[in-house]
Amino acid sequence: MNAGIIGVGRCVPEKVVTNFDLEKMMDTSDEWIRTRTGIEERHIAEDDQDTSDMAFEAAENALKDAGITAEQVGLILVATVTPDQPFPSVACMIQDRLGATNAAAMDLSAACAGYIYGLITAKQFIENNAYDYILVVGVEKLSKIVDWSDRNTAVLFGDGAAAVVLGKVSDGRGIISYELGSDGSGAKYLYQNENDHIAMNGREVFKFAVRQMGQSALNVIEKAGYTKNDVDYLIPHQANIRIMESARQRLDLPPEKMSTAIKKYGNTSAASIGNALVEELENGKIHDDDLLVLVGFGGGLTWGAVAIKWGK
Ligand code: UT7
Repeated sequence: MNAGIIGVGRCVPEKVVTNFDLEKMMDTSDEWIRTRTGIEERHIAEDDQDTSDMAFEAAENALKDAGITAEQVGLILVATVTPDQPFPSVACMIQDRLGATNAAAMDLSAACAGYIYGLITAKQFIENNAYDYILVVGVEKLSKIVDWSDRNTAVLFGDGAAAVVLGKVSDGRGIISYELGSDGSGAKYLYQNENDHIAMNGREVFKFAVRQMGQSALNVIEKAGYTKNDVDYLIPHQANIRIMESARQRLDLPPEKMSTAIKKYGNTSAASIGNALVEELENGKIHDDDLLVLVGFGGGLTWGAVAIKWGK
């Protein structure tokens, strides 16, 4: 039996910052941001709403959706590059707040690919029978490391959290194939600088992402024994609509078969794929037995993809 997603939840901070709001803060325009990135607005956390607060809310919602109690969780994995502090981990913070008294807990660092890294790590423990239920959370408060004077990066990012509960699902369903990768030689293209701000060479990251996302998506489809014609829905990391479109075109999918949650949320790094998954479930775009491909890339450089047969 495969591990699969049996519950989802998210936390979207209330405050919305539109492109027009950004026009008042820096030399940019709604037109530039929309046409170059696909972003129209993003949600930004309040000063007193830290990463662990968003992770906790998303996790609670996922447990409720899965219909399990916190005590049943065996492991909590939190993917983030913006923890409240280097230690204790966000995972330990929410372990306590949830009352997940039987859970081990750790954070993992794979930037925007962190959610995929989390899913695949959790899959191993479930299929080994080490744990019955694992909580995976992708969460970021990027607003605290964005350089608000750098228009090259400030317009791209948003805050939020997305959580899933993994457990065993019926035969044929669940995470049916995966791929993970890294290339540390590209670390210089996307990193946290000496001022603790996000520093990025946008063009290099763009080229890498266009190359990698489509290829990883095709790899997991093939590993699962399918072809691109079998794919029902694509959820790429919501970083830039032009990168996402290139992945969609490599799979020959029509526009309606790809999430474009980026419009409303911007790039929420480790939360982006999970947030888009919840968004499209709510939009009724995902059905039992659909073949989904989730694919991400990020600083590190890192990348990862999964093919999922949806349903419990
Ligand atoms: O999770 C992973 C995170 N990172 C990414 O996914 C980033 C991948 N890269 C990208 O998404 C794109 O490279 C960007 C959206 C960051 C930039 O788009 P681009 O089409 O590569 O633009 P560019 O950097 O080549 O800049 C084009 C022009 C420049 O002006 P000049 O030199 O042509 O006069 C920039 O200064 O656009 C200018 N520009 C802006 N103008 C208005 C850059 N940022 C802005 C802005 N508003 N916010």
